[in-house]
Amino acid sequence: MRQQIAAANWKMNLTYQQGEQLLDTILKEDIRLDSHHQAIFAVPFPYLIMANQKLAGKTNYFASAQNCSDQKSGAYTGEVSAEQLKSIGITHCVLGHSERREYFSERNQSLAERVKLCLANDIIPIFCCGETLSIREVGAQEGFVETQLMESLFHFSETEIKKIIIAYEPIWAIGTGKTASVEQAQEMHAHIRKIFTNHYNKATADHIPILYGGSVKANNAAELFSSPDVDGGLVGGASLVAADFLTIMRSLKK
Ligand code: PGA
Repeated sequence: MRQQIAAANWKMNLTYQQGEQLLDTILKEDIRLDSHHQAIFAVPFPYLIMANQKLAGKTNYFASAQNCSDQKSGAYTGEVSAEQLKSIGITHCVLGHSERREYFSERNQSLAERVKLCLANDIIPIFCCGETLSIREVGAQEGFVETQLMESLFHFSETEIKKIIIAYEPIWAIGTGKTASVEQAQEMHAHIRKIFTNHYNKATADHIPILYGGSVKANNAAELFSSPDVDGGLVGGASLVAADFLTIMRSLKK
């Protein structure tokens, strides 16, 4: 079975102490993850070492960055490079979140650079894609997402692309309490998988986890994750509440 993943995206929430407490509460539950299950915690940069230390020794639990620079190193004040993340033992990095695209003007080409730098440093990119409401309203979402994937990812080799995790996050569902219906999510995930089949092959497409993001909650996760092409979720708001995220972890496909 493909990897099924519950990924928490804390965004710019929680103090260090609150973050520690949240992780402690979640880890105290001691959920033993199956070999095809993963829990990932995308925390603010200053919390990464702490998160990695707490998750050490826990099988299939990982800390993740929420972004990295599109530059290798040098005079880029305030940026953090993939190499620096690697040097503190980080194995995952969210890239191209819609908030980064919208508020920090990250474009497909810059994201391609970030993916390249992550892969070169053995960091697994959690690559986000997804359309705005106006694009969905005119029914152009499939082509829009295909362009995002094509311009950032499709020059990578089959071996490289197989390392990537995709998160489909319709922007109109992020932080709005408005979730894509199970049918809408499955339809887009199946479409994304078809795009990967067309550009690579079926075996590659079948290997890549595609997470759904956008108002995943404790009470809708199991239903969303039950769709054949939805391999878990990238969770914002509900990942800040231990009990909710624990339920979401338990909702992964068996
Ligand atoms: P949300 O955020 O779960 O709060 O909608 C999801 C995300 O942006 O990753």
